[in-house]
Amino acid sequence: MPKNSLTVTDNRTGKSYELKIEDGCIRTMDLRQIKTTDTDFGLMGYDPAFLNTANCKSKITFIDGDKGILEYRGYPIEQLAESSSYLEVAYLLMNGELPSKSQMEEFIYLITHHTYVHENIKTFMDGFRYDAHPMSILSSTVAALSGFYPDAKNIKNPRVRRIQMVRMIAKMPTIAAFSYRHSMGLPYVYPNNDLTYCGNFLAMVKKMAEANYKVNPILEHALDVLFILHADHEQNCSTTAVRLVGSSEVDPYSAVAAGINALYGPLHGGANEAVLHMLRQIGDVSKVPDFIKRVKSDEGPKLMGFGHRVYKSYDPRAKVIKRVADQVFEVTGKNPLLDIALELERIALQDDYFVSRKLYPNVDFYSGLIYEAMGFPLEMFPVLFAIPRTVGWATQWEEMTEDPEQKIARPRQVYIGPKRRDYIPLSKR
Ligand code: CMC
Repeated sequence: MPKNSLTVTDNRTGKSYELKIEDGCIRTMDLRQIKTTDTDFGLMGYDPAFLNTANCKSKITFIDGDKGILEYRGYPIEQLAESSSYLEVAYLLMNGELPSKSQMEEFIYLITHHTYVHENIKTFMDGFRYDAHPMSILSSTVAALSGFYPDAKNIKNPRVRRIQMVRMIAKMPTIAAFSYRHSMGLPYVYPNNDLTYCGNFLAMVKKMAEANYKVNPILEHALDVLFILHADHEQNCSTTAVRLVGSSEVDPYSAVAAGINALYGPLHGGANEAVLHMLRQIGDVSKVPDFIKRVKSDEGPKLMGFGHRVYKSYDPRAKVIKRVADQVFEVTGKNPLLDIALELERIALQDDYFVSRKLYPNVDFYSGLIYEAMGFPLEMFPVLFAIPRTVGWATQWEEMTEDPEQKIARPRQVYIGPKRRDYIPLSKR
C-alpha cells in the first residue's frame, strides 16, 4: 500500500523528512521543521501571487481548468445556466442544496424585501462628482453600509451574518442602479418589489417617465443567465481579497467592499470594459491581423478577454455567453463590434503564440458586447460583474468565518533589503 506522504531530503544537512499528503497538498507549515541549525527559522514556501498555494478548503465551487469544468455545489454551470435562475443559484451557493418550492418562495420574498436602501445613502452618493466611475461609487457605498448596520460586526453570530448577506445581495442592484443614475444625472428609481431580481434592476436603470415601464423578457432572462455565470468562481483575486480582509474579523460590508475594489482592476472584472475599449480601438475586421501581431510583440498590448490563471482550455462561461449573445442580438440588433471579436478569436485560436500558452476567450470576452447591446455604458460593465458576484463573496466569507482552521491572514516575506546599518544625521549625509 503506497504511503500518502512525501519524503524530502535536505541536501544542506543530509537529513530526510516525511511530510503528510492530504487532499493533494502538503502543509507548508510542515516545511518549518526543516532547519540547518537549531536557531534557523526553518524552510518556507515562496509563492508570489499564490500560483500553487491553497489558502482554504472550500465546498462551494469546483473548477477543473484543464477540462473547462465549472460547478457550483456540484451542479455543472451549463445546467444551471440552462434551467435555473439567479436567485435559485444564490440560494444553492449559500445553503449548499437546491431549494424546495417553499424555500425558494421564502428566499425570493426575503431578498425582495431588502432591496430598499436608507434615504441617507442617496445623500451620500450625491457627494460624488458626475463623472465618478460607478465602481468607485459602488465600493464606497457598500463600505458605508457598515455604518448603517453596526450590528454587522457581530460576525460570530450566524443569524446576524445571514441577515447581512441577504441585505448585500438585495441592495447591490439598487446601489448599482443608483450609481448609474447618478453618473447620468438622472433621478433615482426606487425598487419595484413586484419585479424579478434582474427585471427590477433593469427597471431601476432604464426607466424614464413611463408609469408602466416593461422590461423586455428576453433581455431580463439574458441578464439572469449572465448573473448565474458570474455568481462565484472560487479563490480568484476579489474573493481572496474578501477572505483576507474578512480574516481580520471586520464586518462583511468592509470585506466585500475590498472585493469590489479588487474586481475593478483591468486584469479581473474590469476586463469586460477593457475588451470593449480594445475592440473600438481596432475599429475594423481588416485591422485584426495587425493587432494580433502587436499583441505578440515584446511591448505589445494584451489581448483583453483572453487567458486565465486557472482555465487552460475554453472558459465554460464564455461558451454559454456566446449563445446568450445570439438571443440578445435578435432583440437589440447585432453589436457591430461582434465581427471584430469573432475574427480575433478565430485568428488567436489558430496562432501558435496563443495555442502554446493555452490562451482562450474568458468570461469577459463576449459579455461586454452583450452589455453594450443592452444599452449599458462601458463603465457599468464591472458593476454588472459585481452585482452577481456578491453572493459568491458573501458565501465564501461565511465559509471562512465558520472554518476553525482559518486565522488572520498574514503571509511571510523574504527580506532582500539592506542589512542593519546605523542612522547618519542629515547634516553628515
Ligand atoms: N494576451 C496576450 N498574452 C497573454 C495574455 C493575453 N490576454 N494572457 C496571458 N498572456 C501571456 C503572458 O504574457 C505570458 O506569456 P510568457 O509566458 O511569454 O511570459 C503567458 O501568456 C502566461 O500568462 P501569465 O501572465 O503568466 O498568466 P496569469 O495566470 O498570471 O494571468 C490573466 C491570467 C487573466 C491575468 C491574463 O491572462 C490576462 O491578463 N488576461 C487579460 C485580462 C483578462 O481578460 N482578465 C479577465 C480574467 S477572467 C475574469 C475574471 O475572473 O476576472
